[in-house]
Amino acid sequence: MTRILLLNSGPHSEASHGYKLATETIAAAQIDNARIIERDLVHSPIPPIGREYAMAITSHTPHDDQAFAWSERLIVELEQSDMLFIVTPMHNFTVPASLKLWLDYVIRINRSFNSTPHGKVGLMQDRPTFILVSSGGFHVGERAKQLDFLTPYLRYALASIGIKDVHFFPLEGLVFGPEAVSKAVEEARLQLSAKLSAALATSTAS
Ligand SMILES: Cc1cc2nc3c(=O)[nH]c(=O)nc-3n(C[C@H](O)[C@H](O)[C@H](O)COP(=O)(O)O)c2cc1C
Repeated sequence: MTRILLLNSGPHSEASHGYKLATETIAAAQIDNARIIERDLVHSPIPPIGREYAMAITSHTPHDDQAFAWSERLIVELEQSDMLFIVTPMHNFTVPASLKLWLDYVIRINRSFNSTPHGKVGLMQDRPTFILVSSGGFHVGERAKQLDFLTPYLRYALASIGIKDVHFFPLEGLVFGPEAVSKAVEEARLQLSAKLSAALATSTAS
């Protein structure tokens, strides 16, 4: 069985270009025995970080304490996946608040990473991770007129818990009309389906 966790973190939920591309590509790959768990971080929001969690994370609070209930739920959901898809818009040059909040619950000391004299060491098993990044303008290459803090930040944040097999697929120029949207989606579709096929071939071989 291939267990896929699909996080959707933008305000357009199922209407988002990134979400549609992710679900279409997963369906087209005809993965044998796939189980897809979807979490829409905007439509079904997780609560903001409160004092209870902030206190627990900085003290020796047991993992089964109520303060960690949301964190545990999200970490276990991630642990129980073989592949991770993250659909995210760029919001003001970085990840949207909904995805940042998910990271704040999932990146947890002594649970998903250990702190060592050499820095953080991730405790999560690595897995193929596909990140679809939608932007109204351009954020990659020569056409980009804005800095991209999303890609390096998300790569670093996921690596801190051990998720390093990470691939980014930009969908850019989405405010420039239907033609620009189709071009962006088709370019990303080709890259995403190739990477997904390669990951599935590797997982079947091993
Ligand atoms: C609050 C907010 C901030 C945004 N910031 C940026 C930005 O910094 N750069 C950019 O290119 N587009 C920005 N956009 C445009 C969105 O990235 C774009 O509309 C969205 O990704 C559409 O993709 P989707 O259909 O896949 O959700 C912003 C949109 C909103 C709502």
